[in-house]
Amino acid sequence: MAHPARRYNYLLGGKDNFAADRASADAIEKGMPTIRLAAMENRYFLQRAVRFLAEERGIRQFLDIGTGIPTADNTHQVAQRIDPAARIVYVDNDPIVLTHARALLTSTPEGVTAYIDADLREPRTILDDPEVRSTLDWTQPIAVMLVAVLHFIRDDEDPQGIVDTILAALPPGSYVVATHSTWEYLPAAAIEQLEAANPDGRFRARTGEQLGKLFSALDLLEPGVQSASEWWPDEASQPRPSIEDVAFNAIVGRVRATE
Ligand SMILES: C[S@@+](CC[C@H](N)C(=O)[O-])C[C@H]1O[C@@H](n2cnc3c(N)ncnc32)[C@H](O)[C@@H]1O
Repeated sequence: MAHPARRYNYLLGGKDNFAADRASADAIEKGMPTIRLAAMENRYFLQRAVRFLAEERGIRQFLDIGTGIPTADNTHQVAQRIDPAARIVYVDNDPIVLTHARALLTSTPEGVTAYIDADLREPRTILDDPEVRSTLDWTQPIAVMLVAVLHFIRDDEDPQGIVDTILAALPPGSYVVATHSTWEYLPAAAIEQLEAANPDGRFRARTGEQLGKLFSALDLLEPGVQSASEWWPDEASQPRPSIEDVAFNAIVGRVRATE
């Protein structure tokens, strides 16, 4: 059976994947020939967003849910280049990611990285986890990374309830970074092929409007819901790929101060 983490690893050009993951990725590529470019752009967005929050907003703590198999410039490497004392907890529910977790536990001596095996569909198990509680200081702002993971939450698994539970737990001044796959720019024939490549219905593309609604409790930073390709584009390599080719929407939002 294909696993999202290994399939994404294959799309990024990694070697930690099996035949079923490659076959699934190839089937997706039939409907969306730019899927590899999209995966890379999603990853570059994650790195730009971490840099932005660390450099421009002074964020020093990250809870990265749906980490994926470690690759170049994971959240802690980007954040700790800016401040070696940055603290990061990684979360994934894929046993394969767990077997690679050692590569994420390479913190600077001044900072901390931790990894927990937990499921986003049970957000309280993440928020109440002793390692999450003790590694991060819950009186200080935290950035929650939900990058390319919410599209693995089906509608009947209550994505809004999951997001709301996480937002309610965050200290004032915290941020959320999210990307979400979208099919809104694809022709009907491509969508048909992508649906055929999703036989178990595990994957659920959503529109930019749906992504914005999930995070309507946040103050979204400019430019609001935007293609991952276009978010903070001045810092991105040029020329930028089109939003149709990238097909990932992104947001960075700030938790509102409570009155
Ligand atoms: C496409 S990868 C994204 C990796 C990384 N966030 C990035 O954007 O580069 C999605 C990751 O989410 C994880 N994932 C999917 N469903 C999850 C869930 N319910 N709980 C925790 N992790 C999940 C998968 O195992 C996979 O590692």
